[in-house]
Amino acid sequence: MEQYPGKKNTAVFISGRGSNLKSLIKHSKKKNSLIKIILVISNNEDAEGLKYASRSKIKIYGIKNKSNFENKSLKLLKKYNIDLVCLAGFMKILSGNFIKKFSKPILNIHPSLLPKYKGLNTHERAIKNKDRFAGASIHKVTEKLDSGKVILQKKVKILKSDDVRSLEKKVLKIEHEIYPKAVDKFLTNL
Ligand code: GAR
Repeated sequence: MEQYPGKKNTAVFISGRGSNLKSLIKHSKKKNSLIKIILVISNNEDAEGLKYASRSKIKIYGIKNKSNFENKSLKLLKKYNIDLVCLAGFMKILSGNFIKKFSKPILNIHPSLLPKYKGLNTHERAIKNKDRFAGASIHKVTEKLDSGKVILQKKVKILKSDDVRSLEKKVLKIEHEIYPKAVDKFLTNL
């Protein structure tokens, strides 16, 4: 398999829309970025993000079979010499066995200021608790959900006028900004 000197062979895992995938692809095309996106894998064959990746001439794989997802993915990661996996709106929890077998770093983006609001419905919970800030975090993936070391996070103010939709929109904007930065920061400090 072809190697790209100076850039890490990267796979992105998605489940849906893929706007973070899009921001990572755009970043990867810059000369000074540290990643080359070789492969996009989804547990949802109809994920919108797969179409964008395919138009960008990146190999895409939709793996529907729940029980086989991890084994099939591991084979692909090996086949394409992948050094780094970025989860971007990937809504399936990876097992400890998968993390151990891959043995290279896996990063995730989560729409909250971790360690606050692990899991789902982060914006709803932040608004309900009358938090002053919400945000997004990029962290290393470990066996414990949303609990690995945080690499980068950024906050946004929650206004009185915000609802879940407006907050999601604001946070998504900063997600697109910080995921590429976090990936490069992580790789620089390896
Ligand atoms: C993003 O907000 C991401 O942070 C979140 O899903 C959305 C995916 O959007 N991820 C999680 O909640 C992971 N637990 P995208 O498909 O447009 O990138």
